[in-house]
Amino acid sequence: MSEAKTILDPCCGTRMFWFDPQNPAVLFGDVRDETVSVTDRSHGREDGERVLSVSPDLTMDFRAMDFADGAFKLVVFDPPHLVRAGPRSWLAAKYGKLSTDWRDDLRRGFAECFRVLADEGVLIFKWNETQIKVGEILALTDQQPLFGHKSGKRADTHWICFMKRAASHGAKQ
Ligand SMILES: C[S@@+](CC[C@H](N)C(=O)[O-])C[C@H]1O[C@@H](n2cnc3c(N)ncnc32)[C@H](O)[C@@H]1O
Repeated sequence: MSEAKTILDPCCGTRMFWFDPQNPAVLFGDVRDETVSVTDRSHGREDGERVLSVSPDLTMDFRAMDFADGAFKLVVFDPPHLVRAGPRSWLAAKYGKLSTDWRDDLRRGFAECFRVLADEGVLIFKWNETQIKVGEILALTDQQPLFGHKSGKRADTHWICFMKRAASHGAKQ
């Protein structure tokens, strides 16, 4: 019998942050299922060609998920963080790009992540604030974050942990 999928990564991209990108307990989703070749001249690369493969278990939209309420114990939410990026941007190819309706998209994304989390389930949220400050993003959910940590070369990336709380147990007013 296959292992139950108790963990959801609804926008997995190329699964870079996973220690095991094939972890059988994880349902990997993304809005795209594609292999693209992009130019990346960073790190002194001469030819600059890189191939990116986004191959989710399920093509899905984090704004409207087809899962029952409380279906997962852990959700890891790492949405795109760029609003500005050129059409040939390597970062945009790798991480995706936010639409002009990003507040509404992320508000719906948070709401769906918390809906599909079991009570006392955990949401890990990742955000890079080079373009949008994390405070603006945390205002898009009524759940209270527990703790977080800045990381990355310029300490712009936040890792943030939530536990889903029932409205009567400390969700933001
Ligand atoms: C920051 S990347 C994820 C990187 C990933 N965590 C990793 O370790 O490689 C964000 C991903 O969100 C996906 N995405 C954008 N909008 C989405 C949506 N509405 N629903 C699901 N995935 C979406 C993009 O295609 C992109 O692959």
